[in-house]
Amino acid sequence: MKEREEILFDAQTIENKVRELAAQISRDYEGKDLVLVCILKGAITFTADLMRRLSIPVEIDFVRAASYGASTVSSRTITITKDIETDIRGKQVLLVDGIIDSGNTLDCLFKRFAEKGPAGVKAVVLLDKKSRRLVEVPLAYRGFEIPDTFVVGYGMDCAEKYRHLPYIAALKPPRR
Ligand code: IMP
Ligand code: MG
Repeated sequence: MKEREEILFDAQTIENKVRELAAQISRDYEGKDLVLVCILKGAITFTADLMRRLSIPVEIDFVRAASYGASTVSSRTITITKDIETDIRGKQVLLVDGIIDSGNTLDCLFKRFAEKGPAGVKAVVLLDKKSRRLVEVPLAYRGFEIPDTFVVGYGMDCAEKYRHLPYIAALKPPRR
């Protein structure tokens, strides 16, 4: 039986928040060399919307950090299956993710990116499941704090489904 979707943030609510974050980022990085690093696959929609709302020029690159399996519990073992191609030495890097849960993914990426000699590395996430954090990770920008519930849509998946949804929904077990 199919899971039920319960909308948490509709497209308009997301858009308003993305504009707000983009305005802050544009202000903070004015006059700097900024590289947005989209964490594949879940951050594609957020990154695409965010970059279009920035009023400053940016470079874009992609990293794929996979915690393997189709499970709804994230794993501690993060594998980088696709790295960035940009030389980030001396540049400002902003890691972009749709959601932070345990913090393992961003923690691992912060460490990996620091070794590449950037001028600085910060992170922006749209959703923060703060109560689930296992590793402290500094977040420069954050959209919404959400409770410990599994969400899909706006790029985020459950076993590769639901990424196309223009809204963010919580997945609930089917009603009997
Ligand atoms: P973390 O490493 O535990 O912080 O998890 C981060 C990654 O797990 C995100 O980039 C997502 O890919 C995935 N993730 C965590 N929570 C959810 C969720 O509720 N829905 C979809 N993906 C999630
Ligand atoms: Mg996933």
